[in-house]
Order: sequence, then C-alpha cells, then structure tokens
Amino acid sequence: MKKKNNQHYSTKYPDVQLKVHSVSESLRRHLYIFKTTTGVFSYRKIDLGTKVLIRNLEIPPNSNKLLDLGCGYGPIGMVLGYESHESEIYFIEINRRAIWCVKENIKINLPNSQNRTHVLSGNYFDALKEDEITFDAIYMNPPLRKGRNEFLSILHQAPKYLATNGFFEFVIRKKMGAPYVYKYFTKKFPNGKITIKVKRSGYWVFQCSYE
Ligand SMILES: C[S@@+](CC[C@H](N)C(=O)[O-])C[C@H]1O[C@@H](n2cnc3c(N)ncnc32)[C@H](O)[C@@H]1O
Repeated sequence: MKKKNNQHYSTKYPDVQLKVHSVSESLRRHLYIFKTTTGVFSYRKIDLGTKVLIRNLEIPPNSNKLLDLGCGYGPIGMVLGYESHESEIYFIEINRRAIWCVKENIKINLPNSQNRTHVLSGNYFDALKEDEITFDAIYMNPPLRKGRNEFLSILHQAPKYLATNGFFEFVIRKKMGAPYVYKYFTKKFPNGKITIKVKRSGYWVFQCSYE
C-alpha cells in the first residue's frame, strides 16, 4: 500500500524520500520561519492543534527550564525560547529528521541561544541524561495516532520531571479522546489539578499539576 508522505513520522529514521520545505507563520505576533522535511509531523504547515496550544500557552515568569516534549520541528519550543529569554529550553524528539530541523530552526529563530537550548534525541523522558532534572513547565501535542496508552504513561511520568509548582500543558483533539483524558486524570490523580483552558476548533487545551 502507498504510504502518505506525512505518515510514520514517529519513527527514528522515516523512510519517505527526503525533501526540505519551509513554513513561515506568525505566532503570538512574531514571525517565525521553520525548516521542515518530509517524514516530519505536519511539515507543510503548523498543525491546528499546535497553533491552538501555542495561542494559549502559559509561560511561567522567571522560569528556569521549560520542555517541549515530542517537539517535531520545534514550533512550541521556539515560541518558548523567544518569549522567555532567560530560560533554558529543552527539545525532545525521536525522529532524527525532526532533530535536524529543530537545530536549523534554532539558528534561524533563536540566534545566540546555543548555551540555553538543548536538543535531545530519544524516547520521551529517557532522552534526558540527567536523572534529577526538573522543569517549570512541560508542553506537548502528543502523537495520539499511536494510541492513547503511550500518552497516559507520560501523564504518570510527568510529575517526576516537574519542579515545585510546575505544570504540564497539552492539547488533545476532542475526537481523539480529550474527554477521556480529562476523566482519566481526575480518577488517577485525585490530589492533582486539571483544567481545560480552552476548547477551540475541536481541540481542548489542558493544564495539569500534581500534588
Ligand atoms: C503530534 S506531533 C507534535 C510535533 C510538534 N510538537 C508540533 O506541535 O508540531 C508528536 C511528535 O512526537 C514525536 N514522538 C513520537 N514518539 C516519540 C517518542 N517515543 N519520543 C519522543 N518523541 C516522539 C513525533 O515524532 C512527533 O514529532
């Protein structure tokens, strides 16, 4: 069966023919230019769910470390790095083409930020070499086409990587199980707090924190 170009992006080495594209987009009143490639999530234009998340991002003031988990070519982390000048920004991604794009996109959009940007390739939190590292906030547009369980496991792992008062923000399409995730969190984390920040264009943006 013929594969569509944007399928199988959640893989270390995508096997679609490599073509470089560029995407320019104004996000929160700043123009960003992204290099993208085939085999990387939403390489022709920024995903609508990602845009809804970005529009509603809460960036904690005076934050130390922020994480873009499953960063793709890096739109979320790029906005974090641009708006939070002092923070260290971590990008984690499994897809090596996306890793190349993020590195290029940092040069384009966050020049002179080499000492505060960290691009890590690997499997979600396993990519962090330092075990004790914590973040003031973690942001994610999860790859739910792979199934819900992987994301539910991230919901359980996240507290270990959040600093005191830290929070996790993510976007989920209603059709892809946003109401289920809300109920799941309230059931599994009775001491935690989950809020639906916004429901827009079929996407729900969540912020959660754990006691
Ligand atoms: C829905 S996409 C979002 C990408 C990017 N954050 C954006 O908003 O455009 C999810 C991303 O998670 C990445 N991903 C999938 N499995 C992963 C894993 N095990 N570890 C790290 N990243 C993963 C995918 O390659 C993909 O880039």
